[in-house]
Amino acid sequence: ETDGGIVSSVGDLVVVSNRQPYTHSYEATDDGREITVSRPAGGLTAGLDPVMQETDGTWIAWGDGEADADVTDENDEVRMPPESEAYTLRRLWLTDEEVEGYYYGYSNRVLWPLCHGGTMKAEYVERYWQRYQQVNRTFADATIEAASEDSLVWFQDYHFTLAPRQVREAVPDSTFLMHFWHITWPGWDTFRSCPNQEALLKGLLGNDLLGFHVERYCKNFLDCVDEALEDAFIDYDGNRVNYDGHTTTVRAFPMGIDADSIREHSESADEAFWSEFKTDHGIEPDTRVVVGVDRLDYTKGIVERLDAFERLLETRPEWREEVCYVQKANESRSLIPDYQDLQTEVQESIERINERFGTDDWQPVVYINEFIAQDELCGLYRYSDVMLVSAVRDGMNLVSKEYVAAQVDDDGVLVLSDQAGAYEELGEWALTINPYDTDAFAETIETALTMDPDDRGDRMAALREQVGSQDLFAWMDDIFATADELREKKVANDG
Ligand code: G6P
Repeated sequence: ETDGGIVSSVGDLVVVSNRQPYTHSYEATDDGREITVSRPAGGLTAGLDPVMQETDGTWIAWGDGEADADVTDENDEVRMPPESEAYTLRRLWLTDEEVEGYYYGYSNRVLWPLCHGGTMKAEYVERYWQRYQQVNRTFADATIEAASEDSLVWFQDYHFTLAPRQVREAVPDSTFLMHFWHITWPGWDTFRSCPNQEALLKGLLGNDLLGFHVERYCKNFLDCVDEALEDAFIDYDGNRVNYDGHTTTVRAFPMGIDADSIREHSESADEAFWSEFKTDHGIEPDTRVVVGVDRLDYTKGIVERLDAFERLLETRPEWREEVCYVQKANESRSLIPDYQDLQTEVQESIERINERFGTDDWQPVVYINEFIAQDELCGLYRYSDVMLVSAVRDGMNLVSKEYVAAQVDDDGVLVLSDQAGAYEELGEWALTINPYDTDAFAETIETALTMDPDDRGDRMAALREQVGSQDLFAWMDDIFATADELREKKVANDG
């Protein structure tokens, strides 16, 4: 668990993220309706919650739940979590125009594709940029209000590239600003296509500490600063940038998951769960199961994966009726045409494969897009023989780590794209694929399905050790310890 000592020495925490940790909605009851709160299923929010409670911090986020406004006070604040009310959640209301321009527009139709190498997909619409700037200003103002001279402000992700500089200019030097960038940072050759390159870099250089998942993204970022900002001084050895009299340290912190929690959920899923799951989804008891779990995003390589599975069934007919591919998909950003197109493409691929190879007793691909509870998800991970992670570009890919953490019997095989950040840590023991190389990918699925149990066990034990030791709490401790160290240095230099 996170060491309270580290946290308390950095002062109160102000977290700034686009998504909020809790949302409120209305639920119909016999006498009208009541407000219920939904809790995060896992990940960063669940990990940060205890830290927030300990420091009585403030979490600033976009209020997008239907009943959010009804539970917040005149300052748009509500104390969370409901039972202990230990910290403040400050909700910012955005107009439809702001959501369209800032979230759907600049964040997800410009920065998202740009950072994942999709320069041709980025849509530089002036209105998006205007609203992105405006919303960053709104978040910056709320942050300035919440932060004190000993606060630690922690920005999350690509929704807030501009706010750090705006905050830096308004708060005391001693307020520590840090940012974690959860997606990839592209090389200069990609980033240079962005007309707003200078503003984005200058914004991020308002931070004292800027974190990425892997070294390569740090290096890419420093290269971009080097090329785009003439007055920036870069210390490549010290991983530091000095710009406009301020120093930003850039460092890699590979994010982990709450491995213990995944393991516990997985342990609670027994054999009966699995036979019921198979029955419910029309999978015969002896059929081998290959699984994929993704947010429906074009970076995840879902169509490429289906192509590879189809290629396997086509070239190795002995696998027909022997193996089933289960795709769990979470719909995402569905108002954006590229995401709608992807949904259609995935559906069409699945229908094609099922029509082409399916028999009365066997459906090659099972698609699940309804919500499944954490226990069920972890059970699906646990009992699946193989997991396919075929991202064409991915900052980290936490699903690959969740699959590993759920392998309490050490008998699953992870097939992992070398284009995911997780590959840096897990590539040694996973089976490697290039998602675009369909033939080799199909062969690798077969290798995974036929792997000798000892080899499988050794690899999975090593993977579990890696994922278990570099978990979410180790990641947070590392970040907080680095912040603490930099802050001490800063005080020593100023004094
Ligand atoms: C990625 C981003 C997160 C984001 C998540 C879900 O993992 O790095 O910041 O929250 O996708 O996307 P959404 O647009 O639904 O928040």
